[in-house]
Amino acid sequence: MTQKDKVFIGALSRYIGREVRLDGWLYNSRPSGKVQFVMLRDGSGLCQCVIEAGNIPEELFEEVKRLGQESSLSVTGTVRAEPRSPGGVELAVTGIAIHCFAADYPITPKEHGIDFLLKNRHLHLRSQRPWCIGRIRHTVIDAIRRFFNDNSFTLVDTPIFTTIAGEGEQTLFEVDYFGQPLHLAQTGQLYLESAAMSFGRVYCFGPTFRAEKSKTRRHLTEFWMVEPEVAYIDLPGLLNLAEDFVFSIIQRVLKDNRSELETLGADIASLEAIQKPFVRLTYTEAADILTSSRTKEFMAAQFEGFLAQKKAYETELTGIEAMDAKGGLKKWQQDKNARRILEIRTELAELEVKIENNPKHAQLASDFRWGKDLGGSDETIISLMYGRPVFVTHYPRAAKAFYMKTDRGNDRVVENFDLLAPAGFGEIIGGSVREDDYERLLARIREEGYNPESYQWYLDLRRYGSVPHGGFGLGVERTVAWLTGEKHIRQCIAFPRMMDKVYL
Ligand code: 4AD
Repeated sequence: MTQKDKVFIGALSRYIGREVRLDGWLYNSRPSGKVQFVMLRDGSGLCQCVIEAGNIPEELFEEVKRLGQESSLSVTGTVRAEPRSPGGVELAVTGIAIHCFAADYPITPKEHGIDFLLKNRHLHLRSQRPWCIGRIRHTVIDAIRRFFNDNSFTLVDTPIFTTIAGEGEQTLFEVDYFGQPLHLAQTGQLYLESAAMSFGRVYCFGPTFRAEKSKTRRHLTEFWMVEPEVAYIDLPGLLNLAEDFVFSIIQRVLKDNRSELETLGADIASLEAIQKPFVRLTYTEAADILTSSRTKEFMAAQFEGFLAQKKAYETELTGIEAMDAKGGLKKWQQDKNARRILEIRTELAELEVKIENNPKHAQLASDFRWGKDLGGSDETIISLMYGRPVFVTHYPRAAKAFYMKTDRGNDRVVENFDLLAPAGFGEIIGGSVREDDYERLLARIREEGYNPESYQWYLDLRRYGSVPHGGFGLGVERTVAWLTGEKHIRQCIAFPRMMDKVYL
């Protein structure tokens, strides 16, 4: 076996009829008479390797039979077309080198709870679902960089150790910086505003930290955010930029990751149906929608839908359990049933929560009063009502960050926006035009109780060549969760950090 013959599984269909070598790990394995089928994964895909007794030494054939899941091996053989195999090809094996025998790999195709999987995240990353999500995340990040690099933005890396708060002091992580208290970056925005006055169009992209006392499926304490900032832009300009940006990400993922989306069971048709322009609502319109009879009816219909779904799952579960109780099932059928039972139980547990929450969320929506920030459930309701992403603009000034520009025609609201992803995923972008008037900004800093001394450099930007400017931040994990249909954003980063738990 020589180095030059090595091929990645993802490229295997270009090598039909050729002798190649694959380096990988055993995903699963099953015997069938004098043939052993080994499913090999190598990080680029899965390949069925067909090992016929007689084509390799008998002793090795017996050894292969004993290989456990995740044993590492190199396999040589001839690539041949096989429409029923993943990728449309398989390998007729002529040689095998075993690197490491693995036995009792803890993550089997059978049932595992989420806590177990997170504790074993270092191994779980090799499983199909995290692998597919990781590949899509990679595409999303590449698409983000491509979009800004192709649109004349300059990358500016903003600091992680920061001296001032951007998004409210209550979510700051304090660190002891040689005796001086500093904070982990909540946003790169304030620094980026300074850089925008140098380069015109800039972006930063990095880890972001929020001491968020929130255990929801949308919150991590460490997440990745990309933030563009543009000099000489107004709110309509920002919305168009965000729209083009998000649209370009969707198109890239649809183009590059169709098979991963399929494996994950993502709603590809809904992603394909998304067209520009996205919906544009003001906060006041959104508030009216929440308190309307239309929302009341929508929530009631949703409740009925949950009950019907619950009944259907319970019926399916009873059927599978009866099949299991009857006995006589093959091992693979038992495994398949066990997996399905776990899936159904997970779905049922989630449905229970939805059934319990629906009336509360309906009540919150109908009680919504102008002036409050939109809560997670309010965002969910609005985003479920449209098949496209929804921009909500012009929030009440009092509910939003100090740096947002007061609408000069209505000083109760600011020139900001959130972008809500469809299908109930909620906010993926927050952004605004920035307050560019020195006196107004100083007043807002004082109102928030911040020390103006600390903000001198930020205020300077309003003294020396202040211009209308603005930008936004997109959360990578929330975007990946939306595109993949993953319910919890902890699955959308390799090693999640949550308020209540850090596993590894
Ligand atoms: O709306 P946010 O707080 O906006 C800012 O930080 C602005 N300074 C951005 C800017 O204008 N340059 O956060 C932006 C996005 C949210 O829409 C969400 O996608 C993500 O960051 N985000 C989180 N993601 C995961 N966990 C958290 N705790 C998050 N908080 C915000």
